[in-house]
Amino acid sequence: MLTENHATATPPSPVTMAAPLYPIELTVNGTRHQFEIETWVTLLDLLRERMLLTGSKKGCDHGQCGACTVLSNGRRINACLALAVSQNGHEITTIEGLADGNQLHPLQQAFIDHDALQCGYCTPGQICSAVGLMREGEAHTTAGVRELMSGNVCRCGAYPQIVQAVSQVMGIAPAAQPEAPVRPTVVGTVLS
Ligand code: FES
Ligand code: FES
Repeated sequence: MLTENHATATPPSPVTMAAPLYPIELTVNGTRHQFEIETWVTLLDLLRERMLLTGSKKGCDHGQCGACTVLSNGRRINACLALAVSQNGHEITTIEGLADGNQLHPLQQAFIDHDALQCGYCTPGQICSAVGLMREGEAHTTAGVRELMSGNVCRCGAYPQIVQAVSQVMGIAPAAQPEAPVRPTVVGTVLS
């Protein structure tokens, strides 16, 4: 049974501890920035929430859709999986840094020319990923482009146009269309 004193005693106040901050330096789209951040902040959140560079999108936040793809020292990475502190000293390029003034990057122009987007949510990641793909030099056919861009999901299903746009900029000839099979006409049937 509680005594009078126990029942009315003021509970001890919780000890509040500030999370430690770590200094990092990033060059983002050609401009050097310094930050003091907690260790758990991802590169994506740093770009979107603190720098207000909202071109890079948060689709899944689990490394499964590619909407957050940016370039780190020229290599494509999922910014949602990269802790900002791990990028200390790196050069980061986002979709906002690809154009040269009013001159679009050739991939940006190709996406427009080929109508390679619908809602556009995946597009910044697709284009940054394609820039990284071109630097890697591993894709030599449209099938290779399709395979090596497979980490970038497009929920609108604009894949054929995306592959066309990327292939055009890479100078890859379109794949030959398979000929439609010749079907014998049978009187009384409707061809679909
Ligand atoms: S948001 Fe990063 S992979 Fe989906
Ligand atoms: S254009 Fe809508 S998700 Fe790709």
